[in-house]
Amino acid sequence: MADRLDIVIFGATGYTGKYVVKNATHMCKDGKIKFGIAGRRKEALDAVVKEFVLDNVPIILADVKDEESLKKMTEQAKVLINCCGPYRFYGEQVVKACIATRTHYVDVTAEEQFMIEMQLKYNEAAKEAGVYIVTACGMDCIPSDLGVIFTQQKFEGEINAIEVYMGVWLSSTDTKGPVCNYGTWESFVYILAHAKELPELRRKLYPTKLPEFTPKLKSSINNSIYCRCIVHRSNVSEGWSTPFPSADRSVICRTQRFLYDKYKQRPAQVKFYATLKSFLEFLMMAIGSILFLFLSRFACGRNLLLKHPALFSFGYASHKSPNPEIHKSTHLAVTFKASGWTERLAKPTDKHTDPPNKKVITRFSCDSPGYEFTGVAVMLSAIIILNEIDKIPDNGGVLTPGAAFGRTSLIEQLIKHNYKFEVISST
Ligand SMILES: NC(=O)c1ccc[n+]([C@@H]2O[C@H](COP(=O)([O-])OP(=O)(O)OC[C@H]3O[C@@H](n4cnc5c(N)ncnc54)[C@H](OP(=O)(O)O)[C@@H]3O)[C@@H](O)[C@H]2O)c1
Repeated sequence: MADRLDIVIFGATGYTGKYVVKNATHMCKDGKIKFGIAGRRKEALDAVVKEFVLDNVPIILADVKDEESLKKMTEQAKVLINCCGPYRFYGEQVVKACIATRTHYVDVTAEEQFMIEMQLKYNEAAKEAGVYIVTACGMDCIPSDLGVIFTQQKFEGEINAIEVYMGVWLSSTDTKGPVCNYGTWESFVYILAHAKELPELRRKLYPTKLPEFTPKLKSSINNSIYCRCIVHRSNVSEGWSTPFPSADRSVICRTQRFLYDKYKQRPAQVKFYATLKSFLEFLMMAIGSILFLFLSRFACGRNLLLKHPALFSFGYASHKSPNPEIHKSTHLAVTFKASGWTERLAKPTDKHTDPPNKKVITRFSCDSPGYEFTGVAVMLSAIIILNEIDKIPDNGGVLTPGAAFGRTSLIEQLIKHNYKFEVISST
């Protein structure tokens, strides 16, 4: 291990990979952490060296289609950052190579099927090899998963339920063009195309259900006069909120399950909503989602989505890479509305006799969430594995960010990098 590089960034030539490289140059500038860059094309890697004026940064050639090249890459790293997506196609081979060469792994996937499959197939092997495979260390799902952990840390009592409201919006800008890179769009198309596999995968992952926790968290839309439109106006986030099937809720629930199984901590029941600024945006999203879902089910529909990203995303994605300037006017706020009791009972399954008597609202917020935040968050995740491995539970395994980093200083490190976790109110 001693002669390995601390971090290798695989997929350094991609749109996200370059944000990771940019952040690595800042975070490793004192020379204490040594990193290398990897990819399948030498000339493209040379261009990355030139673009970021990298000095003494080794280049490693590896192709997902060549197993040996992957092992030769992973055996040179203590932690591998994988930025090659869609992970459905490129992820598993890299996870396998990491386990074979005893290399820790982090990535920025938002593909729930991939995450659950990796946990099902490789959790035991990763434990045996003593390596951590931590998926979803980008905008999906660090803010929401660590945000729930932050809320639990600040609650001072016992949480019954948390409603999570995620809003992403663009402030006015002179820069026009797409905000989502094509590789990210492609991954999204395949997430929806295979969404029907999820119920079975979830059942396989957790054949035994958690005990029932009460009072049961009801969907906010049930209390809404707009309930037929599956949208409601929440009192904690400005705009129109609607249940949203992103990977975030699944990752939060897997973290909560892990904490219950390992520490017997009462898991929070979770509902997840996307918040849109205006009703018009909600309508556009609803129409876009129905069309997208329908087309993604068929090969010819998928081809249309992949061929005409700008048309089907209302211009948010395109074959052209986004101008980095446009990200500066993108903002993310994730608000957590937690309810529970001031008193904590001895066992997680003990029943409170009184109704919840405490509410805490917390928020994570940042600018430029899609790629800049993702670049910072995945780099910090890799550095935490290097520096605080003793605070990560078990001796390895396939983990969510919250399960792996909930007891480390990751939240503090993000705050130091100007990302905001705050308590809004406590009553
Ligand atoms: N969680 C989040 O919030 C978040 C944020 C941003 C991105 N992402 C995810 O990150 C992934 C990458 O997105 P992106 O927009 O950066 O895509 P991208 O620009 O297309 O980058 C893909 C990378 O994969 C590499 N690659 C493709 N096939 C390969 C192979 N056979 N062997 C080795 N490398 C190969 C590409 O190398 P070449 O340059 O040689 O083609 C490139 O470096 C997507 O899955 C996306 O969903 C997640």
